[in-house]
Amino acid sequence: MSDRAGAAVERSMAVRIEPQDDHVWLESSEDFVNTPYVQEIANRALTYLDVGYAVHFAGPPGTGKTTLALHVAALRRRPVTLVHGDEEFGTSDLVGNDAGYKKSTLVDNFIHTVLKTEEEMKTMWVDNRLTTACRTGDTLVYDEFNRSRPEANNVLLSILSENVLNLPRLRVSGDGYLEVHPDFRAIFTSNPEEYAGVHKAQDALMDRLITIHLDDYDQATETAIAGSKGCLEPADAAVIVGIVREMRAITPGNAWPTIRASIAIAKVLSHIGGRSPLAEPHLSRVCKDVLWPGTVRSRQTDRAPALQQLDEIIAKHAGRR
Ligand SMILES: Nc1ncnc2c1ncn2[C@@H]1O[C@H](COP(=O)(O)OP(=O)(O)OP(=O)(O)O)[C@@H](O)[C@H]1O
Ligand SMILES: [Mg+2]
Repeated sequence: MSDRAGAAVERSMAVRIEPQDDHVWLESSEDFVNTPYVQEIANRALTYLDVGYAVHFAGPPGTGKTTLALHVAALRRRPVTLVHGDEEFGTSDLVGNDAGYKKSTLVDNFIHTVLKTEEEMKTMWVDNRLTTACRTGDTLVYDEFNRSRPEANNVLLSILSENVLNLPRLRVSGDGYLEVHPDFRAIFTSNPEEYAGVHKAQDALMDRLITIHLDDYDQATETAIAGSKGCLEPADAAVIVGIVREMRAITPGNAWPTIRASIAIAKVLSHIGGRSPLAEPHLSRVCKDVLWPGTVRSRQTDRAPALQQLDEIIAKHAGRR
């Protein structure tokens, strides 16, 4: 493995996550690429949070939703609670639940001929992450929240509009309502509704969020990210990103291949190493493996015209180096 590739493996986390008790602390690492495009989005999100709103990053896969949500949360310099949307989630997975009963027995033998026993059964409530976050004023990062069923997320409605978490009456302390800490803020991410395993979020929740719609990063940002992750020269990263973006432009829907393809090609070519990481035949072979859409794998003969097109795209961009 080349030195360059070793560095690429080490520098793979854009945001460092440090667990501490029920929370995590986030810090953007030196691998986080902060171009003017990224900075403008992060500043906008921070402004909305400062004013008191919840922010929602929406967009197709690979548009940087999770990374931006973590980066913005890191900028708030508050403890962070991370939750990942899940089809199996119920409200109790977010706020907590009754974890059984606690039985206590009092034996009173004050008058030695009389034995009095008293038993008390108390429910034991265990707070879950959302309750803890509301209590301690964390930044909640709820990644892919629309993978959870909408009814599981209903509990968020009163948190975001009335600053009150409405807990089931079973909760032992307090009267079932928890006042949300003034520093509590929420950052959501979601994938497009047409994706498998994703639910349509309820209008009432969407109405309480400010949604920043993300598209693919601009070319300069994608090049900087691919170059940084692969530890490649900017000119080499530019060739790879040029190929990937042209493939994206001609692929129906324009959502694939994502930035992950640019990163993968950069990392693999960097790993192969040498003084000229984009030399043939590696460039073509790796691009074809990464860029050939899995869903339309077909026989060699059917693929010929599209592969020829990909060859031309690769040659065109490599020729510009
Ligand atoms: N600003 C950045 N600096 C460095 N790397 C980044 C940056 N933004 C995104 N990336 C990288 O790009 C890739 C895609 O980003 P991310 O996972 O945040 O996208 P996403 O929109 O959440 O995708 P998905 O919908 O599939 O979850 C990741 O490998 C991530 O590390
Ligand atoms: Mg994500």
